Amino acid sequence: MQIVILKDSASVAEYGANIFIKQLQKKADSVLGLATGSTPVSLYQGLIAANKAKQISFNQVTTFNLDEYLGLEGTHPQSYRYFMNEQLFDHVDIDKAQTFVPPGDAENPIAACQGYEDQIKAAGGIDIQLLGIGRNGHIGFNEPSSGLMSRTRVKTLTKATIDDNARFFEAGEYQPHLSITMGIGTILDAKKVVLLATGEAKADAIKATVEGALTAACPASALQLHQDAVLVIDEAAASKLTDSDFYKHIEAENQKLMARLGL
Ligand code: PGA
Repeated sequence: MQIVILKDSASVAEYGANIFIKQLQKKADSVLGLATGSTPVSLYQGLIAANKAKQISFNQVTTFNLDEYLGLEGTHPQSYRYFMNEQLFDHVDIDKAQTFVPPGDAENPIAACQGYEDQIKAAGGIDIQLLGIGRNGHIGFNEPSSGLMSRTRVKTLTKATIDDNARFFEAGEYQPHLSITMGIGTILDAKKVVLLATGEAKADAIKATVEGALTAACPASALQLHQDAVLVIDEAAASKLTDSDFYKHIEAENQKLMARLGL
């Protein structure tokens, strides 16, 4: 894993956005794996700005989102489809027909999960997958105990995740407790994975991801198996890492090497 520790959340968003900008400049028809939550919002703002400045275009891009609430239609303001439209798709030159979010309103959610896997495969696989991380170490809605080789499927949300996300729902409003999520195996199939984490609340999950054992108890620890996983985190999220000086040293050496190679 490449571990990049930056001073604050703005630097994390900028660094993350630059990875995606470079990807789109290198491959205009990239297949992007996208994420919802508070963390990626600033990254998306960076991509919108780059699109408006004509540094990148989304007109040949295909996207697949990690997850969706089961039981919400895409027009529901709390659905992840709605979130993606609001936070990114409505502001860039993307063809919405090329943006995929698991269908939370599918009549047969189990068949829809296989259909989603098939769509990712038909698109040629995901070039770069963006991830946030839950306080409990979840990636997508792969909650602790998720199989490390799992594929897209229906997942029951933990109480911790429901509580964390309750802030987005009105008092008394129906809040789903089921989801469709890419599996950990689906995520690991992406050619590159970029996980963003900011704030002290994520420090335990980051510690378990980077320095803990490979375990379904911390789904993000599965990234230890990935050949090109980048964790972009701020000082607060890094605050419980034992070896953060070493990771900073590695990153400084990486930067020197990249500069020498003109990359
Ligand atoms: P957050 O969610 O970015 O809102 O903290 C991350 C996640 O639960 O994956």
